[in-house]
Amino acid sequence: MIKEYNRYSLLPHNTFGIEAEAAHFVEFGSEDALVSYLKNGIKGRTLVIGAGSNLVFVKDFDGTVFHSAIKDIEIVAEDDASVLVRVGSGVVMDDFVAHCVERGWYGIENLSLIPGEVGASAVQNVGAYGVEAGDFIEKVEAVRIADAEKRVFMHDDCRFAYRYSVFKDEECGKNIVTYVTYRLSKIPAFKLNYGALQQHVEALGGAALENVRRAVCEIREAKLPNPATVGSAGSFFMNPIVQASDAARLVGEYPLMPHYPQADGRVKLSAGWLIEQCGWKDTPHEHVGVYRHQALVVINRGGATGAEVLAFANEIVASVKEKFGVRLNMEANIIE
Ligand code: EPU
Repeated sequence: MIKEYNRYSLLPHNTFGIEAEAAHFVEFGSEDALVSYLKNGIKGRTLVIGAGSNLVFVKDFDGTVFHSAIKDIEIVAEDDASVLVRVGSGVVMDDFVAHCVERGWYGIENLSLIPGEVGASAVQNVGAYGVEAGDFIEKVEAVRIADAEKRVFMHDDCRFAYRYSVFKDEECGKNIVTYVTYRLSKIPAFKLNYGALQQHVEALGGAALENVRRAVCEIREAKLPNPATVGSAGSFFMNPIVQASDAARLVGEYPLMPHYPQADGRVKLSAGWLIEQCGWKDTPHEHVGVYRHQALVVINRGGATGAEVLAFANEIVASVKEKFGVRLNMEANIIE
Protein backbone atom coordinates (compact mmCIF):
# COMPACT_ATOMS: atom_id res chain seq x y z
CA MET A 1 0.00 0.00 0.00
CA ILE A 2 1.24 3.48 -0.91
CA LYS A 3 0.00 6.77 0.53
CA GLU A 4 0.99 9.87 -1.38
CA TYR A 5 0.66 13.52 -0.51
CA ASN A 6 1.64 16.80 -2.15
CA ARG A 7 2.88 19.88 -0.28
CA TYR A 8 3.09 17.88 2.92
CA SER A 9 4.05 19.43 6.26
CA LEU A 10 7.18 17.86 7.76
CA LEU A 11 6.52 19.39 11.17
CA PRO A 12 5.27 16.09 12.66
CA HIS A 13 8.21 14.33 11.01
CA ASN A 14 11.14 16.10 12.65
CA THR A 15 11.84 16.10 16.37
CA PHE A 16 13.43 19.56 16.14
CA GLY A 17 9.97 20.93 15.56
CA ILE A 18 10.95 22.88 12.47
CA GLU A 19 8.37 24.01 9.93
CA ALA A 20 9.16 22.76 6.45
CA GLU A 21 7.21 21.25 3.61
CA ALA A 22 7.92 18.37 1.25
CA ALA A 23 6.83 18.87 -2.36
CA HIS A 24 5.87 15.21 -2.34
CA PHE A 25 5.58 12.66 0.49
CA VAL A 26 5.28 8.91 -0.03
CA GLU A 27 4.61 6.34 2.67
CA PHE A 28 4.94 2.66 1.75
CA GLY A 29 3.45 -0.23 3.69
CA SER A 30 5.30 -3.10 2.02
CA GLU A 31 8.41 -3.86 0.04
CA ASP A 32 6.36 -4.89 -3.01
CA ALA A 33 4.42 -1.63 -2.96
CA LEU A 34 7.68 0.31 -2.79
CA VAL A 35 9.24 -1.65 -5.65
CA SER A 36 6.17 -1.08 -7.89
CA TYR A 37 6.21 2.59 -7.04
CA LEU A 38 9.92 3.03 -7.82
CA LYS A 39 9.57 1.15 -11.12
CA ASN A 40 7.65 4.15 -12.47
CA GLY A 41 10.77 6.26 -11.97
CA ILE A 42 11.27 9.21 -9.66
CA LYS A 43 11.91 12.74 -10.83
CA GLY A 44 13.95 15.16 -8.74
CA ARG A 45 15.58 14.81 -5.35
CA THR A 46 14.69 12.13 -2.84
CA LEU A 47 15.06 11.84 0.92
CA VAL A 48 14.28 8.88 3.14
CA ILE A 49 13.19 9.68 6.67
CA GLY A 50 12.41 7.64 9.74
CA ALA A 51 11.08 9.47 12.76
CA GLY A 52 13.01 12.59 11.73
CA SER A 53 14.96 12.50 14.96
CA ASN A 54 18.25 13.35 13.34
CA LEU A 55 17.22 15.92 10.75
CA VAL A 56 17.33 19.67 10.42
CA PHE A 57 15.32 21.13 7.55
CA VAL A 58 16.92 24.40 6.53
CA LYS A 59 14.22 25.02 3.94
CA ASP A 60 11.32 23.28 2.20
CA PHE A 61 12.28 20.03 0.49
CA ASP A 62 11.55 20.34 -3.22
CA GLY A 63 11.64 16.60 -3.98
CA THR A 64 10.07 13.35 -2.75
CA VAL A 65 10.33 12.27 0.88
CA PHE A 66 9.87 8.54 1.55
CA HIS A 67 8.75 7.07 4.85
CA SER A 68 8.44 3.40 5.72
CA ALA A 69 5.28 2.01 7.28
CA ILE A 70 6.58 -1.57 7.18
CA LYS A 71 5.94 -2.68 10.72
CA ASP A 72 6.13 -6.45 10.86
CA ILE A 73 8.45 -8.28 13.25
CA GLU A 74 9.11 -11.91 12.40
CA ILE A 75 11.39 -14.62 13.80
CA VAL A 76 13.25 -16.11 10.86
CA ALA A 77 15.48 -18.57 12.73
CA GLU A 78 15.98 -19.66 16.30
CA ASP A 79 18.08 -22.07 18.31
CA ASP A 80 18.94 -22.44 21.98
CA ALA A 81 21.53 -19.69 21.87
CA SER A 82 20.03 -16.97 19.69
CA VAL A 83 17.15 -15.69 17.68
CA LEU A 84 17.19 -14.03 14.27
CA VAL A 85 14.48 -11.41 13.93
CA ARG A 86 13.50 -9.59 10.73
CA VAL A 87 12.08 -6.19 11.58
CA GLY A 88 10.27 -3.73 9.33
CA SER A 89 12.13 -0.46 8.83
CA GLY A 90 9.10 1.52 10.03
CA VAL A 91 8.98 -0.07 13.48
CA VAL A 92 9.75 2.42 16.23
CA MET A 93 13.19 1.42 17.54
CA ASP A 94 12.22 1.64 21.20
CA ASP A 95 9.16 -0.57 20.55
CA PHE A 96 11.51 -3.16 19.09
CA VAL A 97 13.87 -2.87 22.07
CA ALA A 98 10.87 -3.36 24.41
CA HIS A 99 9.77 -6.37 22.31
CA CYS A 100 13.20 -7.97 22.76
CA VAL A 101 13.33 -7.24 26.50
CA GLU A 102 9.85 -8.74 27.01
CA ARG A 103 10.86 -11.94 25.24
CA GLY A 104 14.16 -12.39 27.05
CA TRP A 105 16.36 -11.59 24.06
CA TYR A 106 19.66 -9.98 25.06
CA GLY A 107 21.73 -7.44 23.17
CA ILE A 108 20.03 -4.13 22.50
CA GLU A 109 18.54 -3.24 25.91
CA ASN A 110 21.17 -0.48 26.27
CA LEU A 111 19.56 1.16 23.22
CA SER A 112 16.32 1.76 25.13
CA LEU A 113 14.60 5.06 24.44
CA ILE A 114 16.79 5.97 21.47
CA PRO A 115 14.47 7.96 19.23
CA GLY A 116 13.92 6.89 15.66
CA GLU A 117 12.88 3.88 13.64
CA VAL A 118 14.52 0.58 12.84
CA GLY A 119 15.58 1.52 9.29
CA ALA A 120 17.62 4.43 10.60
CA SER A 121 19.14 2.27 13.35
CA ALA A 122 21.12 0.53 10.62
CA VAL A 123 21.93 3.60 8.52
CA GLN A 124 23.15 5.58 11.55
CA ASN A 125 24.46 2.62 13.53
CA VAL A 126 22.81 4.19 16.57
CA GLY A 127 24.54 3.60 19.85
CA ALA A 128 24.39 4.25 23.55
CA TYR A 129 25.98 3.00 26.78
CA GLY A 130 28.65 0.92 25.09
CA VAL A 131 26.37 -0.84 22.57
CA GLU A 132 25.92 -0.10 18.87
CA ALA A 133 23.03 -1.41 16.77
CA GLY A 134 25.47 -2.70 14.15
CA ASP A 135 26.92 -5.18 16.66
CA PHE A 136 23.61 -7.08 16.45
CA ILE A 137 22.61 -6.50 12.82
CA GLU A 138 22.99 -9.55 10.61
CA LYS A 139 21.60 -8.09 7.42
CA VAL A 140 19.90 -5.07 5.91
CA GLU A 141 17.40 -5.31 3.07
CA ALA A 142 16.78 -2.30 0.88
CA VAL A 143 15.45 -1.24 -2.49
CA ARG A 144 17.59 0.88 -4.81
CA ILE A 145 15.81 4.09 -5.72
CA ALA A 146 17.26 4.37 -9.23
CA ASP A 147 16.07 1.01 -10.59
CA ALA A 148 13.82 -0.54 -7.90
CA GLU A 149 16.25 -3.42 -7.45
CA LYS A 150 16.07 -5.33 -4.16
CA ARG A 151 19.41 -5.40 -2.40
CA VAL A 152 20.79 -7.28 0.56
CA PHE A 153 23.69 -5.98 2.65
CA MET A 154 25.19 -8.54 5.01
CA HIS A 155 26.78 -7.34 8.25
CA ASP A 156 30.26 -6.91 6.76
CA ASP A 157 28.91 -5.08 3.70
CA CYS A 158 27.41 -2.49 6.04
CA ARG A 159 30.89 -1.48 7.32
CA PHE A 160 29.57 -0.36 10.69
CA ALA A 161 31.69 1.99 12.77
CA TYR A 162 30.94 4.76 15.27
CA ARG A 163 27.74 6.44 13.98
CA TYR A 164 28.76 5.25 10.51
CA SER A 165 27.75 2.70 7.88
CA VAL A 166 28.07 2.26 4.13
CA PHE A 167 24.62 3.94 3.92
CA LYS A 168 26.26 7.19 5.03
CA ASP A 169 29.08 6.75 2.53
CA GLU A 170 29.04 5.39 -1.02
CA GLU A 171 25.47 4.09 -0.67
CA CYS A 172 24.28 7.39 0.81
CA GLY A 173 20.87 8.42 -0.49
CA LYS A 174 20.71 5.55 -2.98
CA ASN A 175 18.54 3.02 -1.16
CA ILE A 176 15.43 2.73 0.93
CA VAL A 177 15.79 0.29 3.80
CA THR A 178 12.84 -2.11 4.11
CA TYR A 179 13.94 -4.65 6.73
CA VAL A 180 16.73 -5.01 9.27
CA THR A 181 17.53 -8.47 10.61
CA TYR A 182 18.85 -8.49 14.17
CA ARG A 183 20.49 -11.44 15.92
CA LEU A 184 19.80 -11.39 19.66
CA SER A 185 21.13 -13.73 22.29
CA LYS A 186 19.01 -15.99 24.50
CA ILE A 187 21.96 -16.32 26.86
CA PRO A 188 22.31 -13.49 29.37
CA ALA A 189 25.10 -11.08 28.42
CA PHE A 190 25.15 -7.49 29.63
CA LYS A 191 27.30 -4.47 28.92
CA LEU A 192 27.20 -2.32 32.01
CA ASN A 193 30.61 -0.70 32.03
CA TYR A 194 29.52 2.72 30.75
CA GLY A 195 29.49 5.49 33.37
CA ALA A 196 27.15 4.85 36.25
CA LEU A 197 25.04 2.23 34.48
CA GLN A 198 26.22 -0.71 36.62
CA GLN A 199 25.49 1.18 39.84
CA HIS A 200 22.07 2.21 38.61
CA VAL A 201 21.23 -1.37 37.61
CA GLU A 202 22.37 -2.66 41.02
CA ALA A 203 20.12 -0.12 42.72
CA LEU A 204 17.17 -1.50 40.74
CA GLY A 205 17.87 -5.07 41.86
CA GLY A 206 20.77 -6.28 39.71
CA ALA A 207 21.48 -7.39 36.16
CA ALA A 208 18.24 -8.40 34.45
CA LEU A 209 16.88 -7.22 31.12
CA GLU A 210 14.05 -5.15 32.60
CA ASN A 211 16.40 -3.50 35.11
CA VAL A 212 18.91 -2.55 32.43
CA ARG A 213 16.15 -1.13 30.26
CA ARG A 214 14.74 0.83 33.18
CA ALA A 215 18.16 2.13 34.22
CA VAL A 216 18.98 3.29 30.69
CA CYS A 217 15.58 4.98 30.37
CA GLU A 218 16.07 6.79 33.68
CA ILE A 219 19.60 7.93 32.80
CA ARG A 220 18.45 9.17 29.39
CA GLU A 221 15.43 10.94 30.84
CA ALA A 222 17.67 12.78 33.30
CA LYS A 223 20.22 13.84 30.67
CA LEU A 224 18.39 14.24 27.40
CA PRO A 225 15.37 16.33 26.51
CA ASN A 226 12.09 14.57 25.82
CA PRO A 227 11.42 15.17 22.10
CA ALA A 228 7.71 15.54 22.92
CA THR A 229 8.37 18.71 24.91
CA VAL A 230 11.72 20.14 23.75
CA GLY A 231 12.70 20.08 20.07
CA SER A 232 16.12 18.61 19.38
CA ALA A 233 17.91 16.02 17.26
CA GLY A 234 19.56 14.23 20.18
CA SER A 235 23.32 14.57 20.01
CA PHE A 236 23.85 17.25 17.41
CA PHE A 237 27.57 16.50 17.07
CA MET A 238 29.60 13.34 17.03
CA ASN A 239 32.23 12.83 19.68
CA PRO A 240 35.52 13.73 17.96
CA ILE A 241 38.19 11.05 17.64
CA VAL A 242 41.71 12.50 17.70
CA GLN A 243 45.26 11.21 17.43
CA ALA A 244 46.81 9.98 20.69
CA SER A 245 49.42 12.76 20.60
CA ASP A 246 46.74 15.47 20.32
CA ALA A 247 44.77 13.86 23.15
CA ALA A 248 47.89 13.76 25.35
CA ARG A 249 48.54 17.45 24.71
CA LEU A 250 44.92 18.38 25.47
CA VAL A 251 44.69 16.27 28.62
CA GLY A 252 47.99 17.78 29.77
CA GLU A 253 46.46 21.21 29.43
CA TYR A 254 42.96 20.26 30.67
CA PRO A 255 43.36 17.38 33.14
CA LEU A 256 39.59 17.07 33.65
CA MET A 257 38.89 16.48 29.95
CA PRO A 258 37.05 13.15 29.50
CA HIS A 259 38.95 10.95 27.03
CA TYR A 260 38.41 7.36 25.90
CA PRO A 261 41.21 5.41 24.15
CA GLN A 262 39.92 3.52 21.10
CA ALA A 263 40.96 0.11 19.79
CA ASP A 264 42.92 1.72 16.93
CA GLY A 265 45.07 3.82 19.29
CA ARG A 266 43.17 7.05 18.70
CA VAL A 267 41.24 8.76 21.49
CA LYS A 268 37.58 9.78 21.62
CA LEU A 269 36.76 13.07 23.36
CA SER A 270 33.39 14.24 24.67
CA ALA A 271 31.82 16.83 22.44
CA GLY A 272 29.44 17.75 25.27
CA TRP A 273 32.31 18.58 27.60
CA LEU A 274 34.15 20.62 24.95
CA ILE A 275 30.99 22.60 24.16
CA GLU A 276 30.21 23.20 27.83
CA GLN A 277 33.76 24.50 28.39
CA CYS A 278 33.19 27.03 25.62
CA GLY A 279 30.39 28.46 27.72
CA TRP A 280 27.44 27.52 25.54
CA LYS A 281 25.23 26.34 28.38
CA ASP A 282 25.16 29.95 29.60
CA THR A 283 24.88 31.75 26.27
CA PRO A 284 21.77 30.61 24.40
CA HIS A 285 20.45 32.51 21.42
CA GLU A 286 16.86 33.67 21.25
CA HIS A 287 15.42 30.58 19.57
CA VAL A 288 18.21 28.01 19.98
CA GLY A 289 20.55 26.85 22.70
CA VAL A 290 22.18 23.75 24.13
CA TYR A 291 20.41 21.53 26.66
CA ARG A 292 21.29 22.36 30.26
CA HIS A 293 22.05 18.75 31.19
CA GLN A 294 23.92 17.78 28.01
CA ALA A 295 25.65 20.40 25.90
CA LEU A 296 25.94 18.33 22.75
CA VAL A 297 22.20 18.49 22.34
CA VAL A 298 21.16 21.63 20.46
CA ILE A 299 17.58 22.54 21.34
CA ASN A 300 14.78 24.54 19.79
CA ARG A 301 13.88 27.09 22.47
CA GLY A 302 10.72 27.85 20.50
CA GLY A 303 10.15 29.02 16.96
CA ALA A 304 13.63 28.19 15.63
CA THR A 305 14.17 27.90 11.91
CA GLY A 306 16.55 25.36 10.43
CA ALA A 307 18.80 28.19 9.27
CA GLU A 308 19.08 29.48 12.85
CA VAL A 309 19.95 26.01 14.11
CA LEU A 310 22.63 25.63 11.46
CA ALA A 311 24.13 29.07 12.13
CA PHE A 312 24.21 28.34 15.88
CA ALA A 313 25.82 24.94 15.30
CA ASN A 314 28.47 26.57 13.13
CA GLU A 315 29.26 29.03 15.92
CA ILE A 316 29.72 26.12 18.32
CA VAL A 317 32.04 24.35 15.87
CA ALA A 318 34.11 27.53 15.45
CA SER A 319 34.40 28.09 19.21
CA VAL A 320 35.53 24.53 19.93
CA LYS A 321 38.04 24.74 17.10
CA GLU A 322 39.40 28.00 18.45
CA LYS A 323 39.66 26.92 22.10
CA PHE A 324 40.79 23.31 21.67
CA GLY A 325 41.90 23.01 18.04
CA VAL A 326 39.41 20.14 17.67
CA ARG A 327 37.02 19.91 14.73
CA LEU A 328 33.47 18.81 15.60
CA ASN A 329 31.43 17.04 12.96
CA MET A 330 27.67 17.18 12.98
CA GLU A 331 25.73 14.03 13.64
CA ALA A 332 22.46 15.65 12.68
CA ASN A 333 21.73 15.66 8.95
CA ILE A 334 21.30 19.14 7.58
CA ILE A 335 18.78 19.07 4.72
CA GLU A 336 19.15 22.10 2.44
N1 EPU B 1 29.81 16.04 29.58
C1 EPU B 1 29.99 17.30 30.11
N2 EPU B 1 29.10 18.27 29.79
C2 EPU B 1 28.03 18.04 28.99
C3 EPU B 1 27.86 16.77 28.43
C4 EPU B 1 28.77 15.76 28.75
O1 EPU B 1 30.92 17.55 30.85
O2 EPU B 1 27.27 18.98 28.75
C5 EPU B 1 30.75 14.96 29.95
C6 EPU B 1 30.09 13.97 30.89
O3 EPU B 1 30.20 14.36 32.23
C7 EPU B 1 30.86 12.70 30.63
C8 EPU B 1 31.20 12.82 29.15
O4 EPU B 1 31.10 14.20 28.82
O5 EPU B 1 32.07 12.69 31.33
C9 EPU B 1 30.31 11.95 28.28
O6 EPU B 1 28.95 12.34 28.40
P1 EPU B 1 27.73 11.29 28.20
O7 EPU B 1 27.95 10.07 29.01
O8 EPU B 1 26.46 12.05 28.43
O9 EPU B 1 27.82 10.80 26.74
P2 EPU B 1 28.20 11.51 25.36
O10 EPU B 1 29.50 10.99 24.93
O11 EPU B 1 28.08 12.99 25.52
C10 EPU B 1 27.20 9.69 23.80
C11 EPU B 1 26.23 9.60 22.66
C12 EPU B 1 24.80 9.62 23.13
C13 EPU B 1 24.60 8.45 24.08
C14 EPU B 1 25.61 8.58 25.23
C15 EPU B 1 25.57 7.38 26.14
C16 EPU B 1 27.34 10.56 20.73
C17 EPU B 1 27.41 11.71 19.80
N3 EPU B 1 26.46 10.67 21.71
O12 EPU B 1 27.04 10.96 24.41
O13 EPU B 1 23.98 9.42 22.00
O14 EPU B 1 23.28 8.41 24.60
O15 EPU B 1 26.94 8.64 24.72
O16 EPU B 1 26.13 6.29 25.47
O17 EPU B 1 28.07 9.58 20.57
C18 EPU B 1 22.72 10.51 20.28
O18 EPU B 1 23.53 10.05 19.48
O19 EPU B 1 21.74 11.20 19.93
C19 EPU B 1 22.93 10.26 21.70
C20 EPU B 1 22.16 10.84 22.63
